[in-house]
Amino acid sequence: MHERDVVVVGGGVIGCSIAYYLAKRGARVTVLERDLIGAHASSAAAGMLGAQVEMAAPGPMSELCMKSRSMFPDLASELYRLTGIDIELIRAGILRIAWNEEEAEMLRKRGAWQRDRGETADWWDKDRVRSVEPEVSDQIEGALYIPGDSHVSSSRLTRAFSYAAELLGAELIERCEVTAFRAGKDRIERVESDRGTFQAEHVVLAAGAWSASLAGKLGLRLPVVPIKGESLAVYPRKELFERTLFAEGCYLVPKADGKVIVGATERAGDFTEWVTMDAIRQLTSEAVRLVPELANSTFIRAWSSIRPGSPDGLPYIGRFGRFRNLFVATGHFRNGILLSPITGQRIAELIAGEEVPDLKPFSPDRLST
Ligand code: FAD
Ligand code: GLY
Repeated sequence: MHERDVVVVGGGVIGCSIAYYLAKRGARVTVLERDLIGAHASSAAAGMLGAQVEMAAPGPMSELCMKSRSMFPDLASELYRLTGIDIELIRAGILRIAWNEEEAEMLRKRGAWQRDRGETADWWDKDRVRSVEPEVSDQIEGALYIPGDSHVSSSRLTRAFSYAAELLGAELIERCEVTAFRAGKDRIERVESDRGTFQAEHVVLAAGAWSASLAGKLGLRLPVVPIKGESLAVYPRKELFERTLFAEGCYLVPKADGKVIVGATERAGDFTEWVTMDAIRQLTSEAVRLVPELANSTFIRAWSSIRPGSPDGLPYIGRFGRFRNLFVATGHFRNGILLSPITGQRIAELIAGEEVPDLKPFSPDRLST
């Protein structure tokens, strides 16, 4: 039987970030992953660090997102130094496009609270947008320019976290499905898998959209809502725009290698990981509406995976249920790449017994009754 300080269930970006921050503190960590590291939502993501573009209102979620976004420049250098993996952080900003006056009004209000919080979020009319990004459709109303939002390669980030964790002594076991837990009155005693039994001081559930059924094995209710997302990638004939373009209907993320990611659908309750013709039709038509020249780009591939959502839109990060050695980190929905560093760091602090006041609103117990 394996004996470790911490067993993390799930090898997506969240589980790997947790392993990295724990290993940095010297903990002996094992990650158990049913498939391959990063095989699900964490490599399907467009990699936007959309702390402003994805937030409709101020509050604890927006604060957590801002904190996490601010960790990326140092994290990118740290991971590169350790692993040689470049996570391709591109800080060109995001234009949140409005197609009509009603959307423009909503975005101007959003810009106002973000400026009150000290962020840059400037309203640009159509001519200003097209003076810097001339390939954008002349049918738009304008855009909120958010220079602070950026993007990374989500698969490289997950790989960098996992490799860095390994270099610091963590153990990553792929093709290892957790099937059951042995629990005492207030502790998880053992984690059972199809590759053997594991014993650890602490257990972290970070199994993304599949976390609810694992919590169920412990008799605990953790409402995780699966929200499938389909995306595709194309190569334009030349660089068409520098900033990420984010509109109602689609977003277009120009990646470091020249391809453009076109995302993404939202289908609640669907656990399938295939791509429908309907998704391809919808995404390609919205993409060409926003940047007409994309019609001449080369299709590369389409993919999908399952976002782990929650009924109130907040992630679950913290100690869970009646078990004093059980922690949960999931429910990051559209922002798991963005929130991965802060989640890993905060879980490592909690496990070390530190006070983490900014996690209160994200308690996994908040919706359990
Ligand atoms: P996952 O990556 O799904 O990892 C969970 C892992 O747990 C899986 O690998 C699974 O195999 C494993 N597992 C499950 N059950 C078991 C078991 N019993 N035993 C062992 N292992 C198990 N976020 C952003 O921040 N920016 C974006 O631009 C962005 N774009 C997105 C676009 C799309 C199309 C999608 C689908 C998501 C996007 N997201 C984005 C959201 C982001 O991808 C997720 O929030 C994040 O990847 C969740 O990470 P995770 O580690 O919790 O889940
Ligand atoms: N954050 C982008 C998405 O989830 O599609």
